[in-house]
Amino acid sequence: MAMHQTPSLEIRDLHKSYLEGGRTHVVLDGVALTVQPGERVAVLGPSGSGKSTVLNLVSGIDRADRGRISVGGVRVDTMSEHERTVFRREQIGFVFQAFNLIPTLTVLENLLLPLELKGSLAHEHRERAQSLLDEVGLLDRADAFPDRLSGGERQRIAVARSLVHHPTLVLADEPTGSLDEDRGARIVDLLERMTQTGDGSLLLVTHSNELAARMDRIVRLTHGRLVEDSA
Ligand SMILES: Nc1ncnc2c1ncn2[C@@H]1O[C@H](COP(=O)(O)OP(=O)(O)O)[C@@H](O)[C@H]1O
Ligand SMILES: [Mg+2]
Repeated sequence: MAMHQTPSLEIRDLHKSYLEGGRTHVVLDGVALTVQPGERVAVLGPSGSGKSTVLNLVSGIDRADRGRISVGGVRVDTMSEHERTVFRREQIGFVFQAFNLIPTLTVLENLLLPLELKGSLAHEHRERAQSLLDEVGLLDRADAFPDRLSGGERQRIAVARSLVHHPTLVLADEPTGSLDEDRGARIVDLLERMTQTGDGSLLLVTHSNELAARMDRIVRLTHGRLVEDSA
């Protein structure tokens, strides 16, 4: 990996605490991470260790107490609320742990939403959404509403939606948690393929050691810090 490249993601000295019943609960205590363009990194760590918190801070959904986050060389942590919203729409593909599909929109409309938020919809956008639905094996459910789908099907829709606008950085929060092994592996295939084209990077939170092993690197979140897996 060339050293002169601007990292896709650079996190430095990230701190985040929550107040709980008058007590301070330190979640992130100096997290650092660099992800190069095109790199795919797995984040492992026990439940409650702060994995989702890291993704929420990188995407600008939540704010850190301290530290720096740059995506493609641009500081995220100093952006205004509006700048962060625009940044997220343009650059980030987010697969939420809870899927976050819009219940009043059909499957296809859910997929088109990230494109619609960026501007007007064109014929090619619809084709892009349909081809991603095909990739996750759910093209025949395009006109269904999310509440008619199983948990696993919703998860596959959420992954397809995260990729529809060609994000430069995909943040996937346990995107295979509701899937069997075979489907899970195929979803990671799709995430890999999509991030391989066009220098997109992938930060994948997972509980599966097998899926993690398929990434370029593994980092572990322990005691509020990210530690590179040397094994
Ligand atoms: N909004 C919040 N308010 C208070 N505590 C929170 C909040 N979000 C997360 N936490 C706490 O921070 C810790 C890390 O949460 P999270 O990042 O969701 O962990 P993980 O994704 O690794 O399971 C947990 O103890 C959780 O209870
Ligand atoms: Mg989580």
